[in-house]
Amino acid sequence: MLKPTRLLLLGAPGSGKGTISRKLLNRFPQLKSISSGDVLRSHILRGTKIGVEAEKCLKTGTLVPDSTMVSLISEQLRDLDGLSSKANWLLDGFPRTFSQAQKLTEILDKNQCNLNVVVELNVDQNIILHRIESRYVHLPSGRIYSLDYNPPKVPFKDDITGEDLVKREDDNAAVFKKRLDKYNEEIVPLREYYQKLGIWHEVAGITSDIIYPKVEKLLLT
Ligand code: AP5
Ligand code: MG
Repeated sequence: MLKPTRLLLLGAPGSGKGTISRKLLNRFPQLKSISSGDVLRSHILRGTKIGVEAEKCLKTGTLVPDSTMVSLISEQLRDLDGLSSKANWLLDGFPRTFSQAQKLTEILDKNQCNLNVVVELNVDQNIILHRIESRYVHLPSGRIYSLDYNPPKVPFKDDITGEDLVKREDDNAAVFKKRLDKYNEEIVPLREYYQKLGIWHEVAGITSDIIYPKVEKLLLT
């Protein structure tokens, strides 16, 4: 990875954005990542004003308002020195509406650090509900486990801290359906937007082990 990389991972809930992000961070230590869902869950955990508002949206599988998300993520980018032409980062889960994408482009253009690669993870939507049902997370760190794919060393305990793993409140069949429907609606204009900018790529596969090497290759070319 010779040139600065600024990557956006798109994909349905459960498509493996968080899993692929972790693998990329291990492989490319210069990358910093921002997961919009993790940022929101951290606000909920700390009981901030944003957290109180966001909790209602997460529980019901609706989207947090664009204006809140744009200010939250631009603040995160500033905090990790992400607004410079040499910055390397990856975004997971933001932008996820056309309007968020336009606002992000404006902010990044001003700082000459626009996105240079957008990857849409394409995983068969029939298999991802099962993944969601077997997912457990360590909320303070965002570490992700699956009861069958990557189980913790000690059942229901985080590998690093030994703290309890929990189920996300939105990881149930009813809320998942709403999240998936919303994703399928929002992705259409978002995909077109990045296709027109000439930076959109699709990576398909049933498992992250098939998908990951393809994403890595994109970053090395
Ligand atoms: P967010 O946290 O971003 O959730 P999401 O987009 O629905 O995606 P997930 O985190 O559920 O899935 P993932 O793709 O990261 O998959 P993972 O790697 O965990 O957002 C949550 C909510 O926040 C939204 O609904 C919304 O309310 C709000 N929000 C966030 N961003 C927003 C924005 N920009 N605007 C407005 N609102 C926003 O993998 C899933 C599971 O599969 C894991 O258990 C993993 O271990 C397992 N797995 C991974 N790979 C494999 C494999 N190969 N085989 C088997 N299992 C696997
Ligand atoms: Mg995730």
